[in-house]
Amino acid sequence: MLELRDICRHFGGVKAVDGLDLDVRQGEILGLIGPNGSGKSTTVNLIAGLYKPMRGSIRFLGQDIGSLAPNQRAERGIARTFQNIRLFGHLTVWQNVWAAQVVREGGWAGFRRRWLAGADAARDEVARLLAFSGLADKADLLAGNLAFGEQRRLELARAAASGAPLLLLDEPAAGMNAEEIGELDERIRKLREQGRTILLIEHHMELVMEVCDRIVVLNFGRKIAEGTPAQVQADAQVRAAYLGADETA
Ligand SMILES: Nc1ncnc2c1ncn2[C@@H]1O[C@H](COP(=O)(O)OP(=O)(O)OP(=O)(O)O)[C@@H](O)[C@H]1O
Ligand SMILES: [Mg+2]
Repeated sequence: MLELRDICRHFGGVKAVDGLDLDVRQGEILGLIGPNGSGKSTTVNLIAGLYKPMRGSIRFLGQDIGSLAPNQRAERGIARTFQNIRLFGHLTVWQNVWAAQVVREGGWAGFRRRWLAGADAARDEVARLLAFSGLADKADLLAGNLAFGEQRRLELARAAASGAPLLLLDEPAAGMNAEEIGELDERIRKLREQGRTILLIEHHMELVMEVCDRIVVLNFGRKIAEGTPAQVQADAQVRAAYLGADETA
């Protein structure tokens, strides 16, 4: 579905992503893990088009998307969440999800006509996504006033609302308690059941190992391992990378 070949992005002397080959297969939940600063978020930003690679190619659904702007990639079907949450804080929860449907409907052009024609269906869809995210009773609150875990849930609902077949989730469990992480696990599985393909970046190893079909491990911008959760956990290089970075990991 998504193919990165020999992707490089350096920042000054820092080789954030350094010759990365990455394949995301249709329908899978692929984990992307690695110590802090190993290039995970940079990879997401390269896929979503926020950064331009210095070298290498990115193909999505068989087409080269390397020269497309972020909004064009979103329209092709790539949605993402941010490690540092980015919501419309001054809009309500409901409005945040509603606005995300715009992308699926092909941008703002003709949106008013489409909205008037399909307003009931659009409202039902927003209600369904808010229920899915456990945010139905928060629909009229300003997004900026939600608790942290709720904001993460809203980000996921918004990505799902875009209708994109590929979701890039950058640390969706960060700052969540164990109960919330359990719910997130179920939501990620449900999204996959609905046909979404998911690239999951996470530091919560229990979640990653439970939910992912395959895992790719980065260290210093390079892929050091790839395989099933069991294979990756048993990998000596992976263990060394994590122990070197953080004794508790
Ligand atoms: N815009 C930028 N300008 C300069 N350096 C950057 C920029 N973005 C990332 N870097 C550097 O690139 C390296 C990789 O960063 P990145 O954010 O991709 O890591 P990460 O794997 O997501 O880490 P974390 O787990 O802490 O989120 C780091 O050394 C970081 O400081
Ligand atoms: Mg990151």
